[in-house]
Amino acid sequence: GNKVSIGLLGLGVVGSGVIKLIKNHQEELVHQLGCSIEVKSVLVRNVDKVRDVDLNQTFLTTDPADILQDPAIDVIIEVMGGIDEAYQYTLEAFRTKKHVVSANKDLIALHGTELEETARQHKCDFYYEASVAGGIPILRGITDGLASDRIQKVMGIVNGTTNYILTKMTNDGMTYEEALKEAQELGFAEADPTADVEGLDAARKMAILGRLAFSTDVALSEVEVNGIKDLELADLQYGEKFGYTMKLIGFAQCKNQQIEVSVQPTFLSNDHPLAGVKNEYNAVYVYGDAVGETMFYGPGAGSLPTATAIVSDLVTVIKNMRLGISGNASLEPRITTTLRNSEQ
Ligand code: NDP
Ligand code: HSE
Repeated sequence: GNKVSIGLLGLGVVGSGVIKLIKNHQEELVHQLGCSIEVKSVLVRNVDKVRDVDLNQTFLTTDPADILQDPAIDVIIEVMGGIDEAYQYTLEAFRTKKHVVSANKDLIALHGTELEETARQHKCDFYYEASVAGGIPILRGITDGLASDRIQKVMGIVNGTTNYILTKMTNDGMTYEEALKEAQELGFAEADPTADVEGLDAARKMAILGRLAFSTDVALSEVEVNGIKDLELADLQYGEKFGYTMKLIGFAQCKNQQIEVSVQPTFLSNDHPLAGVKNEYNAVYVYGDAVGETMFYGPGAGSLPTATAIVSDLVTVIKNMRLGISGNASLEPRITTTLRNSEQ
């Protein structure tokens, strides 16, 4: 038909961005897809909340069945966060033959492999570019752009909130609390920012990057994690005096058939390219055998940047539907030589 109907689970910072982007870029989307995108219904907690988004004909509901059981809806966009309900709704979506686009790294870091498998069984697509590094197309960068290479190492700044806090403390002399409050007001932080500041959000993203880059499950419990909440302004200023900038660095490496993943506050020399990544921006280095060094840079959080990753995933889902290849082209991990050897 000339219209694809989607259902949104969640209408917060990211969900509102998705509605705005679909509306504002409708012309480009129609041109690429030959059809329009209708946001048919949205799941929220509170239908009476005043919202900064033009809802037009879109129906708000607190009952997930209104969306998951609606045969007119082809694609679910999960931007509600949390684990248990998001997990149930995602499985339910696949069972009812709906494709899913998700921004939920908490869920994907824990259940990504299983959800991909379930999606495939039901011939559904499952894409989650927005779950790692917001607007940066890093998952496609790894699974498509570098598909021919053998990746050795992934390293970078993958949490916008902590990078925002560290930048504001170092450059503007803000306190940790003031900077965190600003990051929350700007919509970068998680609903509960503990996961951001304790490094767990970055650990989840590194686990997802590690799985896709090295083709193996990375258990979160095996990721060594330290956050930024115990860093003192004096520590940051001390480093600065000697030409060093503090960054929360995620690291994933495959060495001697062992995957090592960690998240640590790290002093970087000011001439290191990651030292210049400021505010909510993220950057991810990927080292491949053949390509050498690559670096992906851009906004790691925020409404419209994150929405671009989601709506771009949606474009892919719709193109796959047209081609009849749904469920075959989701983000599949590569098989690296190292891992293949380890399986022999
Ligand atoms: P918000 O807290 O701003 O929005 C969450 C939305 O989901 C709200 O509309 C809320 O309803 C709804 N919701 C939450 N739980 C339920 C539930 N159990 N039942 C029904 N509705 C529910 O979150 P964000 O938009 O910031 O984040 C959404 C997801 O995107 C998260 O997984 C997050 O990690 C991820 N993400 C966020 C980024 C960002 O920059 N903010 C960037 C990349 C990923 P109501 O409005 O009624 O309260
Ligand atoms: N809270 C996350 C961050 C959102 O600050 O990076 C993007 O995943």
